[in-house]
Amino acid sequence: NIKDTRLWYNFKQLWSNRTMSDDKSNMVTCTAPVNIAVIKYWGKRNEELILPINSSLSVTLHQDQLKTTTTVATNRSFEEDRIWLNGKEEDISHPRLQSCLREIRRLARKRRNDTHQSFDVAGLSQKVHICSINNFPTAAGLASSAAGFACLVYTLARVFGVEGELSAIARQGSGSACRSMYGGFVQWIQGERDDGKDSLAQQVEPESHWPELRILVLVVSADRKPIGSTSGMQTSVKTSALLKHRAEGVVPKRMGDMIEAVCQKDFTTFAELTMKDSNQFHATCLDTYPPIFYLNSVSQQIINVVHRYNRHYGETRVAYTFDAGPNAVIFTLEQHFSEFVQVVQHFFPSEINGGKFIKGLPVDDANLSEGL
Ligand code: ADP
Ligand code: DP6
Ligand code: CO
Repeated sequence: NIKDTRLWYNFKQLWSNRTMSDDKSNMVTCTAPVNIAVIKYWGKRNEELILPINSSLSVTLHQDQLKTTTTVATNRSFEEDRIWLNGKEEDISHPRLQSCLREIRRLARKRRNDTHQSFDVAGLSQKVHICSINNFPTAAGLASSAAGFACLVYTLARVFGVEGELSAIARQGSGSACRSMYGGFVQWIQGERDDGKDSLAQQVEPESHWPELRILVLVVSADRKPIGSTSGMQTSVKTSALLKHRAEGVVPKRMGDMIEAVCQKDFTTFAELTMKDSNQFHATCLDTYPPIFYLNSVSQQIINVVHRYNRHYGETRVAYTFDAGPNAVIFTLEQHFSEFVQVVQHFFPSEINGGKFIKGLPVDDANLSEGL
């Protein structure tokens, strides 16, 4: 499934040249999709272990859409662990990368000891070289950290022969990554323990449960967000009273209602909870001091178009949600999908890229009042 970009080809060639001469080398490539939260995670109670202040729920996209592709190679000749992200070498000493590497190697050692293997089957003593590529904008509020760390942990596990529950390790790379370890509708249960062992992702329903559900990603801006999720939520935890109220007083009930809506395939409830939760998350960003603005005027226009569209039909046919960035993710049902795509094209005249991305261009208010 690997896109044969020149960049990728160079990496593969570099590795195969090195590894062909050594039987003990090992190279695994995996892909992982992004997940889009409909009940948002925002705020940690433990920074190091990445333990959240509330549970969250997401929908995992298909593998062939927004995804990360990661290759991990081990080889006796490698002197250090190294990582390249989108072709550029990154600092492997980053604590979150170190947590993932350490935890997978720990499980691999445990497995080796449990199965009494005395030899170095999986190159456990060897260093790894990691090459990871996202096929969508990185750090733009499209959950690159989720697909990225899920893919990293899964690929490392395959290289070292580790099996079983891996979401708690992915969580230590990026909180949202734990939910990309499963497909379909996934909850991240916040857990209560201080060691985080009960802070895990769990599939609520598989993807096949709701085949009529459609997701449309509207890329308003591919730029890196000005404030990363990690530091944004730190400031929110410190300064926003609304966030505390949300985590303790709103999300627990909303999680139950959302799980019920997903199980019943109740689109109206699913859509309304999704929009309200996105709006409340962005309200907590505004309540943060100094305030954080992730939405821009195009995002706000998309929100208006969705509400106008629903009002026009007198029922909730479409929902939006925005992560920490201006890009919209739209949920709708198959029977309304193509009409809503036309509505978006009308209000945001632009090219459609493979039917998945629509670059929203700024439109003026006069444009917006036309049509519906
Ligand atoms: P996003 O909204 O895209 O998730 P974040 O601010 O949460 O943005 O995280 C972006 C960071 O996630 C990047 O700066 C990088 O450190 C990490 N990341 C993104 N993609 C990958 C990847 N494929 N492999 C490893 N880390 C990644
Ligand atoms: C708005 O998982 O990217 O997308 O745990 O610090 O890496 P870290 O943050 P991250 O935060 C995601 C926030 C969100 C909502 C969500 O995905 O639930
Ligand atoms: Co992220």
